[in-house]
Amino acid sequence: MAPHHLITSHRVATPDDASERTFSITNTLKLDAKAELDALERGLLAPAASIAPKFFYDALGSTLYNAIVLTPEYYPTRTEAAIFEKFRNEIASVIGTGKQFIDLGSGDSVKAEKWFASLKPSRYVAVDISESAAREALARLAGNVDAPELAGLITDFSSVLDVTPVAQPAATLFFYPGSSIGNFMPDEALWFLKQIRAHCTLPGSGLLIGIDAKKDSARLDAAYDDALGVTSAFNLNTLMNVNRLLGTNFDVRNWQHRGFYNAAMGRIEMHLEAHSAVQVKVRGAVRAFAPGERIHTENSYKYAPEQFRALLVEAGFTEPKLWQDEGKDFNVFYAGISSVG
Ligand code: TRP
Repeated sequence: MAPHHLITSHRVATPDDASERTFSITNTLKLDAKAELDALERGLLAPAASIAPKFFYDALGSTLYNAIVLTPEYYPTRTEAAIFEKFRNEIASVIGTGKQFIDLGSGDSVKAEKWFASLKPSRYVAVDISESAAREALARLAGNVDAPELAGLITDFSSVLDVTPVAQPAATLFFYPGSSIGNFMPDEALWFLKQIRAHCTLPGSGLLIGIDAKKDSARLDAAYDDALGVTSAFNLNTLMNVNRLLGTNFDVRNWQHRGFYNAAMGRIEMHLEAHSAVQVKVRGAVRAFAPGERIHTENSYKYAPEQFRALLVEAGFTEPKLWQDEGKDFNVFYAGISSVG
């Protein structure tokens, strides 16, 4: 089935009208949400129930996520930001200036914008599943006369990464911060890196990526189960989103957040656990949950530096360079390509 491409153009005047940036947003999300809702239903009715992590991010979920990163226990975001601050110029000199900057999961584009002064990108492409988030971010960036050329791509790259509708044939820096790659299973992470690598066709292209490191379980457990209960609210909110999307009748009060490190698997797991026996209407069916039964909502894999370096090399990148904080809590890699291909 061919994806629908919806292209909208935006003209944004700067306050003094001295200059004007325009940008276009290309939307390749399939317009029929039906297949997505069918998959959601299948996940709930399966013997080991699950809900895909993309259903966290309705308006309340996105706001709660922004609150998670402010909790004292959730160290990854601020640790990555500190690595970027400390090594900004060094990293930029390894990458080089004037590239097309493709931001995967751009959200509010705040992390990317901090690189503009040192990397001087020729072009900035915001890629996100949320059109409203990308539009707001691009409109904000367009207000700056020094902004690079701007474009947006609305797509769900958790299935396939295809930036060809918006990418130009130029040396390209892909930016994938926030340990988001940890939310893929390791084999999917490799596949995703290979897809990025396949888009790096011209010399000077590469990937700047942040990935959380393995560490002691207590700190990891706390990061995904904070004392204030923000991560708990974020996880439970998924049930309200699913009620709205699928017409289910989950009662949030029957469920409890579970977020913990599974050291054997090297991953955080997030689940929703039934307090007692619960029956939930799922379209025509009734799904009975036993007391203590769980719905799996997300994994967040943690990588030792050498483990992630090997993944980058296996995906076809060359000479990955690593930057870390003093505590070695978080890894930032830049990996390029050899000049041929
Ligand atoms: N990818 C990040 C991580 O796994 C951010 C994130 C995604 C997250 N979902 C989350 C953080 C749920 C806390 C809870 O850490």
